[in-house]
Amino acid sequence: MKTAVLGATGLVGRAMLKLLEGCSWLSGDPLLLASSRSAGSKLRFRGRELTVQEVTEDSFSDVDIALFSGGGATSRTWGPVATGSGTWVIDNSSAFRTQESIPLVVPEINGSLVQIRSGGGGGLIANPNCSTIQVAMAVAPLNEVFGLREVHVTTMQAVSGGGRKAVEELERQVAGQPSSAGDDEVFPQLIAANVIPAIGSALDDGSYEEENKVVKELRKILGRGTDLAVTCTAVRVPVINGHSAAVRVVCDRPVDLEAAHLALGDRPGLEVTNDPHDYLTPRQVDGQRIVHVGRVRLDPADDRALLCWVVADNLLKGAAWNAVQIAELLAREPAS
Ligand SMILES: NC(=O)c1ccc[n+]([C@@H]2O[C@H](COP(=O)([O-])OP(=O)(O)OC[C@H]3O[C@@H](n4cnc5c(N)ncnc54)[C@H](OP(=O)(O)O)[C@@H]3O)[C@@H](O)[C@H]2O)c1
Repeated sequence: MKTAVLGATGLVGRAMLKLLEGCSWLSGDPLLLASSRSAGSKLRFRGRELTVQEVTEDSFSDVDIALFSGGGATSRTWGPVATGSGTWVIDNSSAFRTQESIPLVVPEINGSLVQIRSGGGGGLIANPNCSTIQVAMAVAPLNEVFGLREVHVTTMQAVSGGGRKAVEELERQVAGQPSSAGDDEVFPQLIAANVIPAIGSALDDGSYEEENKVVKELRKILGRGTDLAVTCTAVRVPVINGHSAAVRVVCDRPVDLEAAHLALGDRPGLEVTNDPHDYLTPRQVDGQRIVHVGRVRLDPADDRALLCWVVADNLLKGAAWNAVQIAELLAREPAS
């Protein structure tokens, strides 16, 4: 499969490139695309330097699968161009995720949507929001076993979720360097030694964009509607990489802890620890492809409720790895 990465110079794009190095279905080198700002720069792939090109109308003429991580506006511009060339686009932005006709895929949960859609003419598959992916991975098995009625999430999201400028901003603040007048700050307040309970634009209902993504995307991935109550408070924390989420679910029937452990432990891509005092931290999952569930315990106030702690590398399972998994599903099918 001839593959392109649009947004190759970004945090997610670089993580994708690293993962693609191990993919046997790749035919030749991936085409590295970005804006005119980084055209001509070099990135390493399988020990060699490849040149980044500016994306143009002709970029996709020869491409079977394009992994997009250039942001929403870039996807809205180049998505139709690529699919019009017969390319399969796997899009990391939020531009198309909630469109009914677009599959929103976490391969371990609803990967069958990729097979149904593959074959012939190209198309677009959306990669969910980073926090949504890890929460969906943790609650999908509980949905199957106990039936979910409510999901309440508080995320603690690393700065890498905001892209390379966000990481540079935290690093600058930690080093005690003041911003210069020309700096375009990513965060609305200092992020070093602080937490900010606001990610994305403010919405009229009192929530923020990131919280709304978790609510809508989680329902879509689980194939549920508004009968599933979902709430989310999304918090930016001064962690470089790795998102955490404190999750409480309320089920249709009383939760049996042993059955919950079995359901969670039986999923590819998911690791669970049965000791309620055991957990992993973002630093421990940095560079890993799995989603880790710890602190699993019953809610003493409600026998239908369960609490847990979910951590994952937002650049890998939350973005690049999930996208490459989708590409692998496509690569197994005839793509055009
Ligand atoms: N970071 C995460 O954990 C995460 C998780 C899930 C989803 N996502 C989504 O993935 C996307 C990228 O995130 P990121 O963290 O990699 O951001 P990033 O580090 O800021 O990188 C952005 C990339 O997009 C490219 N780009 C920007 N504007 C462009 C344009 N007009 N035309 C072509 N390329 C353009 C940049 O190229 P230049 O070098 O030319 O500027 C760069 O390669 C976003 O949609 C984000 O919401 C991120």
